[in-house]
Amino acid sequence: MTVWIEGATGKAGRRVVEALTAAGVPVRAASRHPGDVKGLVTPVRFDWYDESTWAPAVGNAEALFLKGLDSDEKAATIITRFLDAATSVTRVVLMSAVGVDKTPDNAPRRAVELAVEKSGRSWTILRPSWFLQNFDEDEWVFARALRERNELYAGSGKSKVRFTDTRDLADAAAAVLTQEGHEGRSYTITGPEQLTFGEVAELLARTSGRPIHHVDATPEEHRAHFAKSGRPEAWVDHMLHLFKLVRAGVFSPRTSDFESLTGKKPRTASQYAEDNWQPQTPS
Ligand SMILES: NC(=O)c1ccc[n+]([C@@H]2O[C@H](COP(=O)([O-])OP(=O)(O)OC[C@H]3O[C@@H](n4cnc5c(N)ncnc54)[C@H](OP(=O)(O)O)[C@@H]3O)[C@@H](O)[C@H]2O)c1
Repeated sequence: MTVWIEGATGKAGRRVVEALTAAGVPVRAASRHPGDVKGLVTPVRFDWYDESTWAPAVGNAEALFLKGLDSDEKAATIITRFLDAATSVTRVVLMSAVGVDKTPDNAPRRAVELAVEKSGRSWTILRPSWFLQNFDEDEWVFARALRERNELYAGSGKSKVRFTDTRDLADAAAAVLTQEGHEGRSYTITGPEQLTFGEVAELLARTSGRPIHHVDATPEEHRAHFAKSGRPEAWVDHMLHLFKLVRAGVFSPRTSDFESLTGKKPRTASQYAEDNWQPQTPS
């Protein structure tokens, strides 16, 4: 079986590539900026907004790992057309997000879930919570303000989140892609502990030795902060909506889905911090 992986250079997809190839599974690693062929990894050029790239990118892959076009209003329509054209594909694993199943059917991400469910393929949905890797790898959500000003900028109040390490998401994806018995099922992939963003700031400060602190912005301040990113208005709206959900406690469910799928304990935020936020030694 060859697996086609969307967003293969991103926070999640990159780790899915690693987890599958470690299990001996050949992958087609799709992104707009593919690198060179290496071992079991064939990077392929793919752009959701250039349909001519779709069929050559998928090739004869039998399975897909989809991350699904973020907050594009037309995501479900585009993905339905893409799946209709991907005739070699029998299995689809969609990475959605915690809480999407509780949103209206016409909300873009829920519409994508329903499009995958109706695709006529064997499907599985993974719903991770906020990624820990946002803190060091997502330039506009957290990484830049942390790097430049030691600010963990998050209008979250004292609400708690059960964060997900994308390495766990990848292990879960590899499990459902390589084992039988996950057809038509959805799994919630979260870490073991609930933390406020203030507690995350303390953890990163302790581990890195830097004066990292939480900035608990109002929604207006947060909008102005994100507006500086130059990202589209729809992205800013989406981010503010996500923080509203944080304040509503949506990202704190505890499930044992990860343990059941992989037989392993989910990684803690401390493990993530130890691996990524050690003090810098001067070179
Ligand atoms: N971040 C979170 O906390 C979180 C939590 C739960 C769920 N999620 C889900 O995860 C998804 C984001 O995944 P991620 O964080 O791994 O992504 P990411 O790190 O932002 O990476 C985006 C990937 O998509 C590729 N890409 C960007 N534009 C593209 C286009 N037009 N066509 C094809 N590929 C394109 C990028 O590579 P190129 O630039 O080379 O194309 C890159 O590989 C979201 O849809 C969200 O629903 C995120």
